[in-house]
Amino acid sequence: AKTWRVAVLPGDGIGPEVVAQATRALDALCDKQSGLAIECTTFDWPSHAWHEQHGESAPADYLDQLADFDAILLGALGDPGPASNPERYLLSDAVSLAPLLQIRKHFDQWCCERPCRPLPGAPQYLADARAKDIDMLVIRENSEGEYVNQGGRLAPGTVNEVATQVALFTHRATDRIIRHAFKQARVRADERKAEGRERQFGPDKKASQVCVVTKRNAQQFWGDMYTEMFAEIAKDFPDVATHHELVDAACMKFVSHPWAFDVVVASNLHGDILTDLAAVLNGGMGVSPSCNVNPTDRSRPPMFEPTHGSAPDIAGQNLAGPAAMLLTTAMMLDWMGVEDDVAATAAARLRDAVSADLLEHGSERRNTDAIGDAIIGAL
Ligand code: IPM
Ligand code: MN
Repeated sequence: AKTWRVAVLPGDGIGPEVVAQATRALDALCDKQSGLAIECTTFDWPSHAWHEQHGESAPADYLDQLADFDAILLGALGDPGPASNPERYLLSDAVSLAPLLQIRKHFDQWCCERPCRPLPGAPQYLADARAKDIDMLVIRENSEGEYVNQGGRLAPGTVNEVATQVALFTHRATDRIIRHAFKQARVRADERKAEGRERQFGPDKKASQVCVVTKRNAQQFWGDMYTEMFAEIAKDFPDVATHHELVDAACMKFVSHPWAFDVVVASNLHGDILTDLAAVLNGGMGVSPSCNVNPTDRSRPPMFEPTHGSAPDIAGQNLAGPAAMLLTTAMMLDWMGVEDDVAATAAARLRDAVSADLLEHGSERRNTDAIGDAIIGAL
């Protein structure tokens, strides 16, 4: 079997605390019996601490240093410091978040997947009993859109200031993300069929659905391009039902009847916003995993990071829930599992252990390492 090389980036805030549980879990999963082989190398950058020491958030050649790894496992980034120090607050985003976006871009991780399927025992924020049936996958375009950071400020700081922020959408990036969404819809339908929990969508009772999100009533150019390309690509997937939502209505429906969605595909910014909402439906940031991958090119490292941030308010107190990080690690194992059967088995074992712990303890208040002990003990 292959030895997988993983670059571990603990980052800021609660990042190192939850990452410590993830590396412990990987150690436990890599026992002789399982045959799984993963070699972790930990880097202290990018992080605020590294910046304070070196004046940069990461070494100049950090992207080269990461290039040869099979995968990147990241805790969280951003360290606003004390609220009483607004200068540090402003600095923190520029400091450690830039590498996050650069890693996504440099390694062409054009697809961000954030599954939303509450595990039994996870906190349930919606009162409706159907909330336990929520099972959707939000696929976020991760390479362009509102995140290209083109534009600028004219006459900054004056009353005449004008800021522009270009949102850029290409045929190439739109085609690959929408096509990927349809493929994932098929995969999900097959999984549901195998597990005897089929669903039906639309008047033709199709086994899966893709919903595309735009704001075409106000942002016509990219909205029309997305909608037209979506309709065209859908012809290649006649077995998958289609649906369109405007982003504001999508937010409303994520709260009023989220159980009606299957796969949702959205632009970079819309996907960012919708996945914070979806994380709450999933039981909160504490249980919501995420990945940044290139589904058509496995030659460069993907990055696995929970949806949550560095949670500076609880950092360093052994209070952060490690479940999101562990479920994110399971997504990494899934990704490895495409080539390596023992990794697929390990992903299922880890997910089962997290899920059993949630079921037993629900949202009981426990320390990070105590949760880690219980889950890793079960492995
Ligand atoms: C996320 C985060 C990042 C994003 C921030 C930290 C730049 O919110 O991963 O969702 O907007 O992509
Ligand atoms: Mn976000």
